[in-house]
Amino acid sequence: MNFYVLTLFPELIRQICSESILGRAQTKDLVHVETVNIRDYAGNRHNRVDDYPYGGGAGMVMQPQPVYDAWKALTDRIGKQPRVVFMTPQGETFSQKKAEEFAAEADLIFLCGHYEGVDERVLERIVTDEVSIGDFVLTGGELPAAMMIDCISRLIPGVLHNGQSAEDESFTGNLLEYPQYTRPEVFMEAKVPEVLLSGHHQNVEKWRREQSILRTALKRPDLLEKADLSDKEREWLRKTFENA
Ligand code: ADE
Repeated sequence: MNFYVLTLFPELIRQICSESILGRAQTKDLVHVETVNIRDYAGNRHNRVDDYPYGGGAGMVMQPQPVYDAWKALTDRIGKQPRVVFMTPQGETFSQKKAEEFAAEADLIFLCGHYEGVDERVLERIVTDEVSIGDFVLTGGELPAAMMIDCISRLIPGVLHNGQSAEDESFTGNLLEYPQYTRPEVFMEAKVPEVLLSGHHQNVEKWRREQSILRTALKRPDLLEKADLSDKEREWLRKTFENA
């Protein structure tokens, strides 16, 4: 999958995406992250890409022309016009479901804003999706874009070592993941749950499923309403809480 990032801070994106699992995914050619420096399209001697807002007010606004030219040069070069995701607190909140939707694309362009905003006219012309990473405000779209690239990449086959790990985790089926343990068997007098040492695969699966349901009920009851639980499981959960 190809990620193209239009940004004033390409190094930020490159650094995050070159480490760990994302770095390996790029080496293996499963993921390709390319940055386009909007400043290269400033078109003036001072490399200026922002200006004062019409109507007054605090801060600076990114000018439309450099953003448009950066996008145009990129889409002309790759010969297609992929979806353009603009990172903004005004967008739809990012989620695992949204990540799955984006992971089905072959190419994605991220537009990272800075300063107080980006001139509305260029947004109207090139942006197809507005995405927020939560109800808080950051200084720019680079961290949100890198976060989305990380999340989407791990859904691409081959990026994680074990195909199972992208399926078994938190939010799949709207349930949180069960607790994990590794060696040693006893840590500060706390023993690993017996069932995990039993070698009884079916019992392990049952225990993990129950733990997922319990955790979700305790930590994220809002998710539980949407979770894929059987009638039997809902009844078991009700009884467990009744007896607690
Ligand atoms: N840019 C600034 N704040 C943001 C947020 N919360 N989500 C996405 N992009 C942003």
